[in-house]
Amino acid sequence: MMTHLDISKVSIEFPTPKGPFKALDNVSLKIKKGEFVSLIGHSGCGKSTVLNIVAGLYDATEGGILLDGKEVRGPGPERAVVFQNHSLLPWLTTYQNVELAVKQVFKGRKTKKDMHDWILHNLDLVQMTHAMDKRPAEISGGMKQRVGIARALSMEPSVLLMDEPFGALDALTRAHLQDSLMDIQKDLNNTVIMITHDVDEAVLLSDRIVMMTNGPAASIGEILSVDLERPRNRLELADNPKYVQYRAQVLKFLYEKQRKVEPITQPKKVTPTPPDHDEKVAS
Ligand SMILES: Nc1ncnc2c1ncn2[C@@H]1O[C@H](COP(=O)(O)OP(=O)(O)O)[C@@H](O)[C@H]1O
Ligand SMILES: [Mg+2]
Repeated sequence: MMTHLDISKVSIEFPTPKGPFKALDNVSLKIKKGEFVSLIGHSGCGKSTVLNIVAGLYDATEGGILLDGKEVRGPGPERAVVFQNHSLLPWLTTYQNVELAVKQVFKGRKTKKDMHDWILHNLDLVQMTHAMDKRPAEISGGMKQRVGIARALSMEPSVLLMDEPFGALDALTRAHLQDSLMDIQKDLNNTVIMITHDVDEAVLLSDRIVMMTNGPAASIGEILSVDLERPRNRLELADNPKYVQYRAQVLKFLYEKQRKVEPITQPKKVTPTPPDHDEKVAS
């Protein structure tokens, strides 16, 4: 396996008023070109921190990131980020938001006409050309997220970093965007790291699911390789035995092995309660 992105022995400590807080301890992961990796783990375990270190927004205290053998220092357009809540500039139109990114990367390398065509091409990938003159306040949440993805893709990043990109969307919009993302990634062969808390989303989209232990000093607990043929169809997978088993494995990791223990605030009950068979244990 040729390593494209190498997360090598990464630890990070944040300074806090109570002293240093070690969020990540010795996180290592090798990712190959075109691979789709999901990061899953309980809230606060350190998923965004991993992504921010790869993005170059945070510096690891120990270890580091290599992209094609070169150390990553600071942010760069070859590692585009899509955040959970779109980060579009509210005073610019859809078109202008993408244009800003395209100019940043291609100024002097593409003609004005080529840049214009490229902006339209990327808006078209996420089916947003019809709203290119609208401002963020005039379009829905799902549409804003699509523009955020178009903006990221327009930089031709070799690595696409997504922090719960569909987390704030309704189920139908989310499903639609997951399908578009699978199509786009098939065509462009981007390497993707996506944070999610949605087990179905992780299994549907990923080549590997990286499950993180609870913090502090979080690290990688288990890695699940998802060996399901592509293209994947959510309806056909729903009763595919392999899919069901992968899903169960992730749930088991989250809700048994890394179960979050909440402090008991209620006095102990005298009457025994029946065991809870619901797979979705509150976290
Ligand atoms: N800039 C920071 N300063 C101090 N602590 C931080 C900072 N960023 C994150 N943390 C802490 O690191 C831990 C991991 O945070 P984060 O990566 O955001 O978790 P997740 O994305 O998995 O929910 C949390 O305990 C959080 O409070
Ligand atoms: Mg986060």
